[in-house]
Amino acid sequence: MSGPRNHLERILFGETEIRKCIADLGAAITKDYKDKRPLSVVTILQGGALFMADLIREIHLPLKIESISVSSYEGTSSSGTVKFHQNGMPDLNGRHVLILDDILDSGRTLFAIQSRFEGECQPLSIQTCVFLSKQCERAVEIEADYVGFEVGDEFVVGYGLDYNGEYRNLPEIGVLKPEFYEK
Ligand code: IMP
Ligand code: MG
Repeated sequence: MSGPRNHLERILFGETEIRKCIADLGAAITKDYKDKRPLSVVTILQGGALFMADLIREIHLPLKIESISVSSYEGTSSSGTVKFHQNGMPDLNGRHVLILDDILDSGRTLFAIQSRFEGECQPLSIQTCVFLSKQCERAVEIEADYVGFEVGDEFVVGYGLDYNGEYRNLPEIGVLKPEFYEK
């Protein structure tokens, strides 16, 4: 076998653990949003695509899905600026909004998106849900309302998370062997 899975040095979360975690998150969200309608779930592309696809099937409520595409990472570190790849915003007027992302790191991405939605979209409420929360110092003051797993301050790939655009299709989350990082 020479698939990308062999590029991992360590697996942090396997498929079974990920599935169980998402079922628990979905159950908590279903309970909390039972009387909060209408609901829009907005994922941050590309990283949040797999997370959204799995999580919405564990949220047993009527909802709409939206996405927004931004980038801030270069290689394995945050560039410090969040670039929006589209001009328009999703239609969130008068809706409860749950923003999803693969990982909370410096916090700039979630903060920038939440601020734009608040300023431009007239939502009824906004909450955030990340699959991973990195234990590191945030550059801005933000924590997610729902967190799947906590991870240490290291660079991880898989289940939506990329290194230079690759590894998003790994079904588990892990750390790359040193030889697969560009020198
Ligand atoms: P933040 O804006 O620094 O919180 O970073 C959030 C974005 O950076 C996420 O949406 C990811 O795309 C990316 N990111 C942060 N940490 C990692 C990592 O360990 N692996 C892959 N991508 C990451
Ligand atoms: Mg991302």
